[in-house]
Amino acid sequence: MGLLEGKTALVTGGSTGIGLAGAVRLAAEGAHVFITGRRRTELDAAVATIGSATAVLGDIADLADLDRLYEAVRDRGQGLDVLFANASVAEFVPLERITEEHFDALFGINVRGTLFTVQKALPLLNDGASVILNGSTSVDSGEEAFGVYAASKAATRSFARTWANELKGRGIRVNAVTPGPTDTPGLSGLAPDPEQAAGLRQHLAAQVPLGRLARPEEIAAAVVFLASEQSSFVTGSSLYVDGGLNQV
Ligand SMILES: NC(=O)c1ccc[n+]([C@@H]2O[C@H](COP(=O)([O-])OP(=O)(O)OC[C@H]3O[C@@H](n4cnc5c(N)ncnc54)[C@H](OP(=O)(O)O)[C@@H]3O)[C@@H](O)[C@H]2O)c1
Repeated sequence: MGLLEGKTALVTGGSTGIGLAGAVRLAAEGAHVFITGRRRTELDAAVATIGSATAVLGDIADLADLDRLYEAVRDRGQGLDVLFANASVAEFVPLERITEEHFDALFGINVRGTLFTVQKALPLLNDGASVILNGSTSVDSGEEAFGVYAASKAATRSFARTWANELKGRGIRVNAVTPGPTDTPGLSGLAPDPEQAAGLRQHLAAQVPLGRLARPEEIAAAVVFLASEQSSFVTGSSLYVDGGLNQV
């Protein structure tokens, strides 16, 4: 028996990287997994990899897309037991070059999109459900040129505390998973070309006490823990999966 037999899960941004690894593990534990993302080809490939999955094309920054997503979940008739609000975007921009477009794009997806992803899920969340927000070690590192992204993830961390309090009456737990640098298309996409991406991965790995980047599956293992009854007394917390980066 898997840890999530008969459960229904949603992973936003479930088509690549940490979201895909999370969706694969949640399905392997017995859940039927809905995934969403903006690119159809990546979503279709992910469904083939995950197995027990339904893909709904959409942008979490678009409230009409969120409504369509939750209509699909509602149509299945089982409510929602696990919500992994994972979709986010990142970009390096130093303070003097920050534009309105950069700020609005990152806060529009990472903060506003995450907020409405969870708000619109509320009528569907079953009592005892688990909500997991994807954070980042950037919240406490002050890395140069990562200010808007780090601030968006600090907001996410804060949401986990508030919503854990607001939803405790329904037995719904809300936590953040807080990955350190993880080898995903999103991480490599921070660099302008493959050569610089290799340099970035090497640079980040060298800062991690365990001496390497995380594999997406290692973050997914923490997501399964937070999604399941294994973490029944954990709420409002931030679970660091960072190879010791922010710990030692
Ligand atoms: N990789 C790391 O080192 C690292 C470290 C700490 C935290 N994180 C966090 O982990 C999460 C996943 O990151 P990742 O590295 O796995 O990134 P990734 O490989 O770029 O995957 C991001 C996923 O989110 C989707 N997505 C992006 N914007 C979206 C939107 N507006 N609406 C719906 N889906 C959207 C993408 O699909 P589409 O582009 O097709 O929409 C994709 O499926 C993010 O919250 C990130 O901040 C990552």
